[in-house]
Amino acid sequence: MRFDIVSVFPEFFAVLDLSLIGKARERGILDIAVHDLRDWTDDPHRSVDDTPFGGGAGMVMRPDVWGAALDDTLGDDGVLAVPTPSGTPLTQRMCEDLAAAGHIVLACGRYEGIDARVADHYEESGVRVVRYSLGDYVLNGGEVAAVALVEAVGRLVPGLVGNPESLVEESHGAAGLLEYPVYTRPARWRGLDVPAVLTSGDHGKVARWRRDRALEVTAGRRPDMIEALPAEGLDRGDRRALAGLGYLVPAGAAHPLPASAREAAASDVPGLADLAARTFPDACPPGMREEDMRAFVESHLSREDFSRYVDDPGCLTMALAVGGRILGYALACLPPDGAVAGAERGAPVQAVVDGRPRSGPLVELSKFYLDRRLRGTGAAALLWEATRSRLEEWAAPWPEAYVWLGTNAANERAQRAYRRLGFRFQGQRTFRVGDQDNRDAVFARPIRMA
Ligand code: ADE
Repeated sequence: MRFDIVSVFPEFFAVLDLSLIGKARERGILDIAVHDLRDWTDDPHRSVDDTPFGGGAGMVMRPDVWGAALDDTLGDDGVLAVPTPSGTPLTQRMCEDLAAAGHIVLACGRYEGIDARVADHYEESGVRVVRYSLGDYVLNGGEVAAVALVEAVGRLVPGLVGNPESLVEESHGAAGLLEYPVYTRPARWRGLDVPAVLTSGDHGKVARWRRDRALEVTAGRRPDMIEALPAEGLDRGDRRALAGLGYLVPAGAAHPLPASAREAAASDVPGLADLAARTFPDACPPGMREEDMRAFVESHLSREDFSRYVDDPGCLTMALAVGGRILGYALACLPPDGAVAGAERGAPVQAVVDGRPRSGPLVELSKFYLDRRLRGTGAAALLWEATRSRLEEWAAPWPEAYVWLGTNAANERAQRAYRRLGFRFQGQRTFRVGDQDNRDAVFARPIRMA
């Protein structure tokens, strides 16, 4: 791989004699030539710049000098890389792409930059031109950015980095994630211990922990990278970790979507009613008649009903928004006097949870529904935790408070899900839809749990 660097400060590039890049040059893996732009001037002052047409501050680098320099260095295979704060932010993908080129010429501008015709001219004559930026800040010239590109591209050249695996696993590599945190000896430093999993010897657990940390760090610092992750590359563990970080991957979605559960507002009512109409049949037993389900939706889950729920201080209505759409909701009925909500609907008034009889108010979780596309995504835990934490605030005056729900006795999937959320089976009730009596399993749990 050959780099030609053209600059008015050729001495700057002495750094490229050091470290791995310097070794690679010695070994002939990298061929780096540094040129003084002034060698292409033909006036006694060796001047490379002039005042800008149209006026303004500073000086602009002359196209005739640059043209002469680039004609001599580009040859017929050079890619022209121009560091400039108005370029495309340099990424690992761009570096990988550039590493496939055999010859890169770096044109380091100073002052207010290089006359715009230079890059345009080479581009028009068929040279590949890459204008790149190191970031949204202004350096005094392109030299630092040229060193950055030589190092980032050069280290991808086969043979340069001793352990090629470290190229694969790291930040901005194939995984599209920032790197997990790393630790070395001593295991305890200034009272800070290395995470225990890393000394456990369990390679599977270490791999999962690292992947979870990488997802966490990336979600915190670079949410744009999380939203660009291809869904097909995410395993169950990834999806679970992402749900905990506020991203869900609905079935059919190409990428993780930001998800948040919040108290519903009046503007959510149409979305809630649409979702309720869609999801109610999912929770019904197989034999239920279409018209009974439709009548139930019309009499309990209409827009008017949801408007009432949202306005009613005795109801807590939660909406789960995924990628800006409402794909889940929960509705809790709060007992007015801190007693029992839904006694007439079969509340387990005598609930015994984990061997202890109920000793505080009992909230009814009357609805808890997710769009089918969210099954198995961790959405239930996300919606539940947000709902639970609101209920905990509501229940603050009591030492203990509980929540109960009924779900169709034939719906094993829902019952497993509620068990995972800490609910325990209490008994059965009858739930009427149309003229059909259905058996429901009744579950309860404390709102707060250790
Ligand atoms: N030249 C001056 N500022 C720069 C930046 N941020 N990136 C690349 N080249 C530059």
